[in-house]
Amino acid sequence: MKYDVPSDDVKWAEDVLKKLNAKLSAECFRMKGVIPYIPQDGRYRDIDTGEGIYWWTNGFWSGMLWQMYYAAGDEGYRTLAEAVEERLDEALEGFEGLYHDVGFMWLHSSVANYRLTGNAVSRRRGLHAANILAGRYNPAGKFIRAWNGDRAGWIIIDCMMNIPLLYWASKETGDPRFAYIAQNHADTAIQTLVRPDGSCNHIAVLSPETGECLEIPGGQGYASGSSWSRGQAWAVYGYALSFRHTGRQRYLDTAKKIAHYVIANFAQHSWLPVVDFRAPHDPVKYDSTAAMIAACGLLEIAEYVGEYEKPLYMDAALKILRSCEKAFADWDSEHDGIIGKGTTAYHDGPATTEVPIIYADYFFTEAVLRLLGKDFLIW
Ligand code: GLY
Repeated sequence: MKYDVPSDDVKWAEDVLKKLNAKLSAECFRMKGVIPYIPQDGRYRDIDTGEGIYWWTNGFWSGMLWQMYYAAGDEGYRTLAEAVEERLDEALEGFEGLYHDVGFMWLHSSVANYRLTGNAVSRRRGLHAANILAGRYNPAGKFIRAWNGDRAGWIIIDCMMNIPLLYWASKETGDPRFAYIAQNHADTAIQTLVRPDGSCNHIAVLSPETGECLEIPGGQGYASGSSWSRGQAWAVYGYALSFRHTGRQRYLDTAKKIAHYVIANFAQHSWLPVVDFRAPHDPVKYDSTAAMIAACGLLEIAEYVGEYEKPLYMDAALKILRSCEKAFADWDSEHDGIIGKGTTAYHDGPATTEVPIIYADYFFTEAVLRLLGKDFLIW
């Protein structure tokens, strides 16, 4: 076992896994080949955002199915995961609708498939996606540009979770270029996005010619200078993963610095996730996705620290997971979606505020399986 989990928490995780299996079986039966995002009236609809097959969350359902396939061995999960991967070919071929989030999309589908089954077609799809991500690299500013259109100089903290696709591609091909790009991006993000107190900017606008920092917009948090909780969570997990893939101490130190800030802020809010740690206290708005991502990041850090440090990260992860499961989980198999109260961005409207979102369920599943030693590395 990777972790020394207290027996009461193991019991909780085992109980949750049983409920996960029951709920996901019911969802699989209803959904067949649907690619879910946010349920409406308790039901997932197929690819229901304006970006269609290019939407950045389209891989998470597949990732969840591969995790459950690995943990439970149920072929039904594998069949549905493979169906998502095939549908994503339309996005790979269409190309222009894709942006930096190709890591989320293909690590959770093709790379997961390849890692678990050795499927050569999946490997090729994963390498194709890695080349698309590497193609977004700006060598003058040493960063991977975010989104498309006139945002040539935008770097965002979320992309720390996409660069594991590049670490994988280097390992797979023996060509270090992909990993160099990933490390350069991680280093530039430390300079431009990670603040001295351990909080993070969501976005920095850099000069695409020189890399000079021109502006720090507010992004998906409350305002410029605030502290969007999901962004902080992406950073904790993203830097911990960069440490995993490179062994560079700087990345673990950065992950820990941001984690300490995140833990302090979660403790301040009864271990429940507000959308932004520096927003007005009224109204309280939650974003469960930040909590689930942060919990996985804290568990990742716990793998690399010594025995006297481990409990800090383990205890915080367990408090976050258990308090969110108690407050937000919907285990009724008649409703799609498990973890409620996810929010896409602080100022977004009611359709995407405090609702179940597919990636909250993915990271919750990964965290629970991690606690039981039944997860596999998707990143
Ligand atoms: N695009 C990543 C996020 O909304 O967190």
